[in-house]
Amino acid sequence: MILKDKRILLIVAGGIAAYKSLDLIRRLRERGAVVIPVMTKAAGEFVTELAVGALAARKVHTDLFSREDEVDVGHIRLARDCDLVLAAPATADLMAKMANGLANDLASTVLIATDRPVLMAPAMNPRMWANPAVARNAAQLRADGVRFIGPMRGEMAEGGEAGLGRMAEPLDIVAEVEALLDRSPKPLAGKRAIVTSGPTHEPIDPVRYIANRSSGTQGHAIASALARAGADVVLVSGPVALADPAGVKVVHVERAEEMRDAVLAALPADIAVMVAAVADWRVATAAGEKIKKSADGSVPSLPLTENPDILRTVGHHQQRPRLVVGFAAETSDVETNARAKLDRKGADLIVANDVSPETGIMGGKRNTVALIGRDGVERWPDMSKEEVAGRLVALIAGRLAEV
Ligand code: CTP
Repeated sequence: MILKDKRILLIVAGGIAAYKSLDLIRRLRERGAVVIPVMTKAAGEFVTELAVGALAARKVHTDLFSREDEVDVGHIRLARDCDLVLAAPATADLMAKMANGLANDLASTVLIATDRPVLMAPAMNPRMWANPAVARNAAQLRADGVRFIGPMRGEMAEGGEAGLGRMAEPLDIVAEVEALLDRSPKPLAGKRAIVTSGPTHEPIDPVRYIANRSSGTQGHAIASALARAGADVVLVSGPVALADPAGVKVVHVERAEEMRDAVLAALPADIAVMVAAVADWRVATAAGEKIKKSADGSVPSLPLTENPDILRTVGHHQQRPRLVVGFAAETSDVETNARAKLDRKGADLIVANDVSPETGIMGGKRNTVALIGRDGVERWPDMSKEEVAGRLVALIAGRLAEV
């Protein structure tokens, strides 16, 4: 809960992306932040003060010369009585003002008066973002210590045009705010980690595939926790419905062979945590065309061949990471099977869990695991997958700190 009770002064400037600021306010408040909204005059053309104020559950500040506000707080206090100033959307106009020290309305004055970190999420037409004057202002602001998130590539809200100019998504902005305000220790700073997560899809033909029930929740949570602990993380993810975790480099793959290639390409690393539920087999020869039903009712046979074992490959690799962690999803004899895997796969640690359907672990939010190492077994109580991730990362940091 990095954002708990943190005061975020949110400047909403006048751009169509202001509609996303409403969601941004919700997301920040969900995480315990206090959002103090400031709107420019132009912002009022896109979203109403009523909507912004209702979502923030606070008064919206709009006027530099508001008699009421100046008596109450004053623009200088407003600018400083917060932990971070966030401009989302930041327009070309707002950036130009700050880059040139202009302070002729409340938003620009706050930006000039603040001594807090400033994060800008620009949003504008791609041609405007590409304009040399805007690029100059962005470079100046960066040199002055302003942080940026986005703009992103994509369709503009107004339609028709695509390019660099879209405001970053609210959840990504929230993650960036969290990263900027995070004062927690970084025991894995300077360490590289590779994580695999999710299922793999092994094609049968262009429209069908073999898959499994893995959701990627545990693997993604571990990648996030490693990044929060300061590690430089590459997450190789099979097809999942989850957002890419913030602060993590994500490589999206479908098949086991692609996953192996991406993992090997990410070496060398200090830590490997192989959480993916990799399909053990693939169809030996996937059909190039969709397999049709035959008229005589005969069914196709699908000879399988074994997939590469990624954990085992990494565990026995020349560039073996110092700490290799595997998972063992079992439905019976959990610890015995996991112990056998430790040696066979060349891992230092196996996180074993019972994925029998009645446990609800596969695809669920909670997990009960046992850690099997060379020095014994440690059983953890039932907890959320985020908690498992946090504790595992603490354990990894402890192990790496040992000489
Ligand atoms: N794993 C892998 N590549 C594979 C299969 C598994 O990297 N082709 C990894 C998983 O990410 C996990 C661990 O190996 O960390 C355990 O996978 P599991 O499927 O339980 O092990 P298997 O070797 O397939 O053993 P078995 O099927 O006999 O249980």
